[in-house]
This record gives sequence, structure tokens and C-alpha cells, in this order.
Amino acid sequence: MTKIKSIPSCDIMMIAGTRPEVIKLSELEKKINFCESVYVYTGQHFSKNMKDIFFDGLGSKADIDLACNTSDVEVIRKKLVKLILKLKPLIILVYGDTNSTLAGALAGRDTKTKVVHIEAGLRSFDLRMPEEQNRIKVDHISDYLLCPTSLSREFLRFEGIKKHVYVTGNLIVDVSKKFSKINLHEDHNLDKESILLTLHRAENVDDKKSLKILVEKLSELSMYKIIFPIHPRTRKNLKTNNIKIPKNVTIIDPLGYIEFLSLLKQVKLVLTDSGGIQEEAIILNKPCVTLRYTTERWETVLIGGNRLYPLLQNTQSLVSVVEEMIGGKIKNQPYGEFVTRKTVNVIKKIFLDCKKTKLNNIIRLEVINQR
Ligand code: UD1
Ligand code: UDP
Repeated sequence: MTKIKSIPSCDIMMIAGTRPEVIKLSELEKKINFCESVYVYTGQHFSKNMKDIFFDGLGSKADIDLACNTSDVEVIRKKLVKLILKLKPLIILVYGDTNSTLAGALAGRDTKTKVVHIEAGLRSFDLRMPEEQNRIKVDHISDYLLCPTSLSREFLRFEGIKKHVYVTGNLIVDVSKKFSKINLHEDHNLDKESILLTLHRAENVDDKKSLKILVEKLSELSMYKIIFPIHPRTRKNLKTNNIKIPKNVTIIDPLGYIEFLSLLKQVKLVLTDSGGIQEEAIILNKPCVTLRYTTERWETVLIGGNRLYPLLQNTQSLVSVVEEMIGGKIKNQPYGEFVTRKTVNVIKKIFLDCKKTKLNNIIRLEVINQR
């Protein structure tokens, strides 16, 4: 990491703070080289297997690590405001829907810096999810919005956001296509048909009742071997509640990105409550069952590759849903092509517009001062 002191100023500040942001921004970060850019990591995710393995594995590098070690928006926001006031970027790039995304957008507003939101316009319409609240707030604060699909642009239009909205696609297309070409086979003993499981949403893992139902549902799938790279939040809650996972499930530590994609390619189906994994499953043509009431990735359901299955409210058996999905067909992925290139072009245009406006303002002020 570069020392903050050695960076006098910057034009663009890109902010990330969690595993999915590091992954999704890993290719874009390397291409923002037309001006002085600084990549800031908030440190919301801090464990080696939630942070370093992604920077290292994807050849990506943040310039500054704020090491916040928390998801507290106010803590992250304050540190970002201080940094923005020092480096004076013209624009700030935030990604997705995490607390770091919100803290970045708020810090931009606090410092009157233009905010660009990448992955704008996603809506699950479930306001109980902290991520849904973050999405709405960030979209309404942002000056420029880059949507992954035209459906997300429509959601923004519905909320009255019509100006400076671009459809650029989803950056995960380029990242997942690049890294899925590499095969890194760890030996997971995939002797019988396998399913990949990930789970970390509050609605699924912060509640004992829901964890117990999860165990029941997973035992129903005894004909499959289930591999479960476990999020630290979930590991902690299983331990606290003394919940034992059934025999057909193998818990492993979170995997590096290439290892994760290698495993995704080998299994029959993915069971998840992750946002990003719903997208990757569809891009890699793998059926997905999402253990949630709703999704903000509606496109994946519409093309037949994803089915919702809320653990606490489902009458159909999970086995039958899994079998239907394994036998189904998935249409073309909806998230675009050459997404990094398109995104860079739009960011360049925004940057040049902002620079022109800033210069015009300086000239106007000088003219007024000379009168
Ligand atoms: C966060 C995001 C969520 C995103 C997810 C990606 C918010 C509100 N949530 O959820 O949208 O889908 O990241 O994984 O921003 N922990 C560690 N080590 C880490 C990170 C977390 O041990 O590196 C543990 C800590 O006990 C922490 C808990 O996990 O308290 C939850 O972490 P947090 O960042 O608050 O939320 P996530 O569930 O990771
Ligand atoms: N992922 C990974 N290793 C794992 C679990 C997930 O590399 O053990 C990747 C996954 O491929 C996806 C991202 O992490 O790109 C999703 O992160 P997560 O589910 O934590 O967050 P969300 O997408 O729900 O915000």
C-alpha cells in the first residue's frame, strides 16, 4: 500500500470495502489510467480470507487501506471525509450496496464531490434488507448512475432518477469470464453429484429458527454432496447457537476467487443467498436456487436460471426445486459484453465533463473578481 502522505491529490477516488467489491472492481481498477486515480479500501472486510486472497489472487491492489475493521457507516464515512478533503478528487466511484458504498456516497455528499454509483438501480423491494436501504440512499445521493441492465434503469426512472443514467452492463462478466478460464482443482472429493452452498444474509444466518430450518432442508438433499465455503458471520452464528450441520455438508473456509469459480463449474447447482453468485451462476450457465424471499437480480429469474426459495416460507420440497432447476434451460446471460471497456468510457466522459465544469467555474469566478 502507498503511504497516504505520499499522495498529494487525485482526480478520481475509487472506494471498495468488502469481498464482492474487490472482485468486481478488480479489472476496472487496472483500466482507470487516463488520470490520477486512487483506489481506497475501507477495510470493512478485514480477515485474510475475506480480503487479501482476493487482492492477491486477482492481481489487484488498493493504494490506501483505511483499515476501519468495521461495517459502521459513521466510522467509515468520517475517515473517508478526511481523506477526500486531503486528496480533493473531482469524482468518487462507489460500487454496489454495502455499508462501505453508502459511507463513500455520504462522504462524497459531505465534501460536495461528484459521486458515481456503479451497479445502480437494483431493487429487491424488501426494505428489511440493509442492502436495499443502502441501494436507495446511494442512488438518490449519486450524481451519475451506471446500471447493469435496462431493467435497473427502469427502476431508477420509476423513482424519478432520469438524468445522467447509463446502462453499461455488469463488471462481473469480464472478471468471471477471465478467471473461469483457469482451473484450480482443490480436492473436494466430489465423488457424487455436488451442490455448492453459500450463505451470509442476516435474514438467514442471524436467526436461530432459520438456521435450524436450513439444517432440515440440507438433510433433505442427502443424495447430493454439499460443499459450503462458509462466511465468517455464518460460522460465528452456527457456533453461538450450537447448530450442527448434517453429514452430507462439508464446511470449508472461504475460497479464493479462482478456486471458487473452479468449484462452481464442477457442481450441478448452486444454493446461495449471495447477490454476486446469482450473477456468476447465470454467466457460467449453472442453475441457481436463491434462499431468499426476493432478489434484486430479477433478470436471472426471468431467463430461467434462478429460482427463489425462502427458507422460512416454503411449502414445496427443496429437493424437487433443485431437481427442476438442474433439468432446466438457461437463456443468454443478461449482463452485457465488453463491460469494463464501456464502463471506462463512461467514467472518462463524466470525468472530462466535471473537469470542464470546474474550469468554467474557476474562469467565471476570476471574471467576477476582476470586475
Ligand atoms: C457485508 C455486506 C453485504 C455483502 C457482504 C459480502 C453490509 C451491510 N453488508 O455483509 O451486503 O453481501 O458483506 O460478503 O455492508 N467478519 C469477519 N471478517 C471479515 C468480515 C466479516 O470476521 O473480514 C465477521 C465479523 O464478525 C462481522 C460479521 O462477519 O461482524 C459481519 O460482517 P459485515 O461486514 O458487517 O457484514 P457481512 O455479512 O460481511
Ligand atoms: N466468493 C469467493 N469465495 C467464496 C465465496 C464467494 O470467491 O468462498 C465470491 C463469489 O464468487 C462472488 C463474491 O465472492 O464473486 C460474492 O460475495 P458475497 O456472497 O460475500 O457478497 P454479495 O455478492 O452477496 O454481496
